[in-house]
Amino acid sequence: MKNYIWVKVFKDENKERIKMEVGLIGLGKMGYNLALNLRDHKHEIIAYNRSSDKTESIEKEGIRGVYSIKELCHSFKDKRIIWMMIPSGDAVDNTIDELLEFLSPGDVVIDGGNSFYKDSIRRYHKLKTLGIDFVDVGTSGGTDGARNGACTMVGGEPEVIDYLSPLFKDISVENGYSYIGAPGSGHYVKMVHNAIEYGMMQAIGEGFELLNASPFDIDFHNVAKVWSNGSIIEGLLMRSVLGAFEKSDRLENIQGIVDSSGEGQWAVEEALRLKVSMPVISNALFARYKSVDTGKFSEKVVASIRKEFGGHAIHEKR
Ligand SMILES: NC(=O)c1ccc[n+]([C@@H]2O[C@H](COP(=O)([O-])OP(=O)(O)OC[C@H]3O[C@@H](n4cnc5c(N)ncnc54)[C@H](OP(=O)(O)O)[C@@H]3O)[C@@H](O)[C@H]2O)c1
Repeated sequence: MKNYIWVKVFKDENKERIKMEVGLIGLGKMGYNLALNLRDHKHEIIAYNRSSDKTESIEKEGIRGVYSIKELCHSFKDKRIIWMMIPSGDAVDNTIDELLEFLSPGDVVIDGGNSFYKDSIRRYHKLKTLGIDFVDVGTSGGTDGARNGACTMVGGEPEVIDYLSPLFKDISVENGYSYIGAPGSGHYVKMVHNAIEYGMMQAIGEGFELLNASPFDIDFHNVAKVWSNGSIIEGLLMRSVLGAFEKSDRLENIQGIVDSSGEGQWAVEEALRLKVSMPVISNALFARYKSVDTGKFSEKVVASIRKEFGGHAIHEKR
């Protein structure tokens, strides 16, 4: 384990907080807000985005923008800390490969997106052989959290995390940062977190569906509001429902299609592998799959069976 020297790090006037130079890749909904959050905490941000418009926009916020990975890597005064906030999968591997042309031993790459934990372990080992540290950060709290105080669950080598902890503490709400453990563990815990989120959101959706079918003329906005104040089921998800009903009280302009970005599937696959029973979360995942299913082939099969054995009516296509 290499020794960590406090290069690139200085203390501000009141000598309480350690400030760092961070290269942020990906100025989307999360990365843009994270850059502003880090900037507000007096960290020195160098921002890069694949397409230039967001970089131009963040420059207007007083953040230094760069227009290539090469320029990003050449902009550091010393040790590089690169924080990626981009979609999981190939985007992360390709970005790391591009970075590797310019990084040096001792640099650190942080993946703050929702990557699969096994990919993070693989990337940790790949970078380790080159003397570059890799840190996986599960980031929760949505865009508001990224801007005003997130929840971060971090995996990596303890010395590296110790070195970077001022960053994680600064961008997180009080007690909202935790070092989880070995490389990959931050993304593992985030995978489970998101799987729980799937189940909770599905339950909220089903509850409102029952209210919608009820014999009463219920004001959903009013219900979401009262449930957001003092109830057992209050919280960010309920406040998000409240926000949605504020915009449209019957969500008329929204199609009932729910996409999924991988974490629920990975969690269910992990549960199957470890023989852990997860009926709520797996049903929530399948409900999302059903929501995007326009073919409805299983329903066609079931309707056909009923027709064949019992002569039950089918709804023919017109
Ligand atoms: N949104 C949330 O609430 C949330 C919460 C926690 C974690 N996350 C995770 O955080 C990460 C970023 O999410 P987001 O919501 O900020 O996404 P987003 O708004 O869609 O932004 C994605 C960013 O990544 C860049 N990008 C996309 N494909 C790329 C590629 N192949 N190579 C390089 N850059 C690429 C985009 O650049 P362009 O502008 O050029 O398209 C954009 O800046 C994801 O892993 C997501 O799962 C999201």
